[in-house]
Amino acid sequence: MTFSRRTLLGAAAAAPIVAGAAGEASAASSRLFRESLDFALQRLRQVAPNVTSFPEETKFEKWTYVNSGGWVGGFWPGMHWLAFLDSGDEQFRKWAVESALRLSPRRTDTSIHDLGFLFYPSWVTAYRLTNDVSWRDGAVQAASSLIQRYNDKGRFIRAWGALGTPTNAGRAIMDTMMNLDLLTFASEQTGESRFLDVAVAHAETTRLKFIRPDGSTPHVFDFNPDTGEDIGPNTNQGYSPTSCWSRGQAWGIYGFTTMYRRCHRREFLEAARKLADFALDALTPDHIPVWDYRSPLAPNDVKDSSAGAIMACGLLDLAAVSGRLSYRVAALRILDALCRTCLTTRAEKHEAVLARGTRNRRTETGIEVSLPYGDYYLMEALLRVLKPRELGRAIGLS
Ligand code: GLY
Repeated sequence: MTFSRRTLLGAAAAAPIVAGAAGEASAASSRLFRESLDFALQRLRQVAPNVTSFPEETKFEKWTYVNSGGWVGGFWPGMHWLAFLDSGDEQFRKWAVESALRLSPRRTDTSIHDLGFLFYPSWVTAYRLTNDVSWRDGAVQAASSLIQRYNDKGRFIRAWGALGTPTNAGRAIMDTMMNLDLLTFASEQTGESRFLDVAVAHAETTRLKFIRPDGSTPHVFDFNPDTGEDIGPNTNQGYSPTSCWSRGQAWGIYGFTTMYRRCHRREFLEAARKLADFALDALTPDHIPVWDYRSPLAPNDVKDSSAGAIMACGLLDLAAVSGRLSYRVAALRILDALCRTCLTTRAEKHEAVLARGTRNRRTETGIEVSLPYGDYYLMEALLRVLKPRELGRAIGLS
């Protein structure tokens, strides 16, 4: 991996020692990670009794909700499954089940691409932790809904817009990389290759169309939906079609690494590494991603801690599958920085765990707020370090 001089000097100046020679977290970081996870569980215990819907983002330190689950409904049950995994506390299991069941009607939702976000941390994890096949069957049903959005002319999964409607019919986005593991799970469970075939085709299209020579990516790529021909890069949540939205880049690092893990295609590993190397080089010395690495105000623009948490998870897995320790050290630095500079620990009335997330800077909705995916991936990253075997069982890393 090559880092620029600026990144290396910045990292050396600002970062504490987070890892030993074998990539193990230092004693100080391990302690901080354990305390941070304890804090997350404590906050969940405090807030969950009053939650009957799906947290979407915080306003004035309180969760606001989306009753249908929106695209985020998998993360709240997901956090409770992770809390149950860590603590064995039955109350977390009950909250996880209650909340995951509320997603049930979404299994047949063909109007969005987000079924992996919805059903992976909630129903797939539920199946892996409980062996109750109703979770598995529901997740497979969601996968069947998702593949209906596949456009075989352009070989991509349509991101937005109800099927049969023209608006956004040719639109593919980076985030969809995170929905593909629901499809690999469905193929593994049913023995039917059609799910995996769509996942591989979509990942291959993303690799070929989104990744620029320097490893940066646009949020969106548009196709002619009837012919599958390229229209070109675009954006929805990034600064511009030529910029690099940091959460999209993080989805890509995580998603390509997962696809390599599932089907061992070398090109997916190379894609994950390219994206990771770009993002690591663009990181500021505080190790928290700016919302868009190419915003004109970067590096002094608002942050997105959720991009950091997702990226930390992706880098930990990338280190594991590639054998490159430097990705693990970079992940530990990001995680250490998130725990030192972004937790809500001292805000007693706050309902979330991780502050400084940015939902959509371009439309000025949710800037430096808390986000359920920030909290979820922070917990996942902490468990990847603290309890890798148990976490691996929950999300299928073995
Ligand atoms: N998947 C939507 C987002 O990351 O904001």
